[in-house]
Amino acid sequence: ANGGAKAGKTRNIIEKMEESGKNCVIFYGSQTGTAEDYASRLAKEGKSRFGLETMVADLEEYDYDNLDTFPEDKVAMFVLATYGEGEPTDNAVDFYEFITSEDPSFSNSNDPPLGNLTYVAFGLGNNTYEHYNSMVRNVDKALEKFGAHRVGEAGEGDDGAGTMEEDFLAWKDPMWAALAEKMNLEEREAVYEPIFAIVDRDNLTKDSPEVYLGEPNKMHLEGSARGPFNAHNPYIAPIAESKELFNVKDRNCLHLEVDISASNLSYQTGDHIAVWPTNPGQEVDEMLSILDLKDKRDAVISVKALEPTAKVPFPTPTTYDAIIRYHLEICAPVSRQFLGTLAAFAPDESVKAEMVKLGSDKDYFHDKISKNHYNIARTLSVVSGGKKWDSIPFSAFIEGLNKLQPRYYSISSSSLVQPKKISVTAVVESQLIPGRSDPFKGVATNYLLALKQKQNGDPNPEAFGLTYELTGPRNKYDGVHVPVHVRHSNFKLPSDPSKPIILIGPGTGVAPMRGFVQERAKQAESGENVGKTILFFGCRKRSEDFLYESEWEEYKKVLGDKFELVTAFSREGAKKVYVQHRLKEKAKEINELLQQKAYIYVCGDAANMAREVNTVLGQIIAKERDVPESKGEEIVKNMRAANQYQEDVWS
Ligand code: FAD
Ligand code: 2AM
Repeated sequence: ANGGAKAGKTRNIIEKMEESGKNCVIFYGSQTGTAEDYASRLAKEGKSRFGLETMVADLEEYDYDNLDTFPEDKVAMFVLATYGEGEPTDNAVDFYEFITSEDPSFSNSNDPPLGNLTYVAFGLGNNTYEHYNSMVRNVDKALEKFGAHRVGEAGEGDDGAGTMEEDFLAWKDPMWAALAEKMNLEEREAVYEPIFAIVDRDNLTKDSPEVYLGEPNKMHLEGSARGPFNAHNPYIAPIAESKELFNVKDRNCLHLEVDISASNLSYQTGDHIAVWPTNPGQEVDEMLSILDLKDKRDAVISVKALEPTAKVPFPTPTTYDAIIRYHLEICAPVSRQFLGTLAAFAPDESVKAEMVKLGSDKDYFHDKISKNHYNIARTLSVVSGGKKWDSIPFSAFIEGLNKLQPRYYSISSSSLVQPKKISVTAVVESQLIPGRSDPFKGVATNYLLALKQKQNGDPNPEAFGLTYELTGPRNKYDGVHVPVHVRHSNFKLPSDPSKPIILIGPGTGVAPMRGFVQERAKQAESGENVGKTILFFGCRKRSEDFLYESEWEEYKKVLGDKFELVTAFSREGAKKVYVQHRLKEKAKEINELLQQKAYIYVCGDAANMAREVNTVLGQIIAKERDVPESKGEEIVKNMRAANQYQEDVWS
C-alpha cells in the first residue's frame, strides 16, 4: 500500500507489536480485499473471544528478516490469497520471494531460524486454476522448513467451488481451539467491541470543503488529483464513447472507450483496467433505511480508530451516505459469521433467535439467504420483517463489510493503435433468481450501464433500472467520467510479430483478443511481417451476441490470409458447439502451428472453458504426434511454463 514509506513508520513488526502491546499479528496478502477482510475478522474474533491483543498487518508494510526473533509467547497469522497463475498478490510479492528463497537472510543465525515462531495459516484460492492455493501451501512449507510451529491445519478456501466463506468458518474453529490450548487462552462470551468510533461533526455540513463525498483521497477532495494513478488513487477518466454490442433485449454487453489522454496513465496491449464502481441508489437507500439513518444520511461524521494499528478504510470527515455509496461492498454476499455478530442488536428477541440460527446453521442460512442472493440490507429487512435495526453501531458495518473493490476488465484495444484510449468490453451482470421478484444485479457492470445510458441520453429502458448518484458536486461522478486505474498483466503478445498466434476467447474472453488482432493489423499496415493469427470465438447466436462481428472483416482486409476467425455458435443447432470442439476439428493445423512455436492465448471463463480447452489441447497434441495422452498433457504444461501458453481467466 502507500503506507510503507511514510516517515516515522516502523517496518519492524516486532517493535510495532511491543510498542502497541500486541501478542497476535495477522498478516494478509490480498488482491481484491477478501483476505484483508478475513484478517480483520480473525483480529476481532481473537480479541473478543480470547482476549488476544491482535493487530492486522499488510505484508507490504513490514520487513521479515527479523521473523527469527519473533517472541515465543506471541503468534503470527498468515491469510494469503493466491492470484492468477499461482502468483502472490501484489502486496505479498516481497514476502513471498523472501520466505521461499533457498537461504533467506534472517537477521540472526538461530538454528533453526524460525524455531520460536508460532503461526497459523489460511489460504484463499480457486480450484479451477492449476496452482490451487499455492501461496499458502508454499509459505507453510517454507515456514515449517525453517523450524516454525504451525497451530491447527493450514486452511484452504476455494472460490472456484463457491465455498470460500464456509471453508474459512470450518477452518477457524478448530484453529482457535488449538491456539487457545497452546497459548493458554481462556474463552469468554464474545461481545462486540468497536474498533472504530463514530464522531458527530455537527459543526460541518456536507457542503463544507473539508467533507469527503466519495473522493478517495485529499488530492481528489481538493480537485488537484494527479498521478501516479493506482489502486489507491484512481484517475477520473472521461468516457469518450459507449455503446451496446448485443442485439438482444434481455442481455447487455457494453463497449466503452475510456480517454486517458489528460493523464499520465499508460497501458500495454493485454493489460487490465480497474473500474471503481458506485453503489446503486436503491441499495444505498435500503441500507440507510433499515439502519434508520435516512434522516441522517448527510450528517457529517469522522471515523476514528480506537486501536493504534487499525486503519479507517476511507477518508473522513464524510457522511453516512458517502460511506455507504462509495466505500462499502453493501451488495455482496452476506457473511454468516457477521449475522451472528449482529444478533445482539436485533430489534426483538425472536429476530435475535433467528439471527443466531442463521449464524450457526449453514444449511438454513443457505436456504434463507445465500440462495436468494440477498445482500446485507435485504437480509436484515427480511429477518426482522421490516423492523428497523436502529441500535447497531455503525462501526460494526465499517468493520464487518468489505471495502468496495474496483473490478478488473481485460483491455480490449491495442496500445499501438490507441495509446491514450482504453476499450472495455463488459457483459452486464443480471440474473433471475427463482423465488425472488427482482433480478440480482452486479455492482460495477450496472454502474457502467447507467453511465452509458446517461452519456447517450437513453431513457432508462430497463424494467428494473437502477439509479446512481452521477452528479456528485465535487467529484466528477457525473455520468461522463469513470474512476479507473490500470493494472499491468503478463498476458502479452510475442515480441516478434512474425510468430503465429492462436487466440481462444469465447464471450467476453474475446476482449484482449480484439486488442491483439488490432495490434497485428496495425503492424501489418506498417509493413511488418505478421504471422498467422487464428481466433476462436464462441457465443450463443450469430444474430445476438457475436461481438465485434463487422470489425473482424476489417482486420481481415488488412491481414488477408494471415487472419482466420473460427466461430462456435452454441445455441443455433440442436447440439452445443463450443470453441474447444472447433479446436478439435482443426487439430492438424493447431498442432502444426504449435510445432512452429505458435503462442496460444486463452481468455474468459476459468471454471469450465479454460480447463476444457487445456484438456483438448493435450489430446490434440497426443493424437497428432502419436504420443500417449499423459505426454500430451506434459507438453501443454511445458508450454505454460515457457509462457508459450498464456491465460487471462476469471470466474
Ligand atoms: P458483482 O456485484 O461483483 O457480482 C459478481 C458475482 O458475485 C455475481 O455474479 C454473483 O455470482 C456474486 N454475488 C455478488 N453479490 C452477491 C450476493 N449478494 N449474493 C450472492 N452472490 C453474489 N468481465 C467482463 O465482462 N469483461 C472482461 O473483459 C473482464 N475481464 C476480467 C479480467 C480479470 C483479470 C478479472 C479478475 C475479471 C474480469 N471480468 C471481466 C469480470 C469483472 O471483473 C467482474 O467480476 C464482472 O464484471 C462482474 O462485476 P459486477 O460488479 O457487475 O458484479
Ligand atoms: P452456452 O451458454 O450456450 O452454453 C460465451 O458465453 C459462449 O461460451 C456461449 O456460447 C456459451 O455457451 C459458451 N460456453 C459455455 N460453457 C462453455 C464451456 N465449458 N466451454 C466453452 N464454451 C462454453
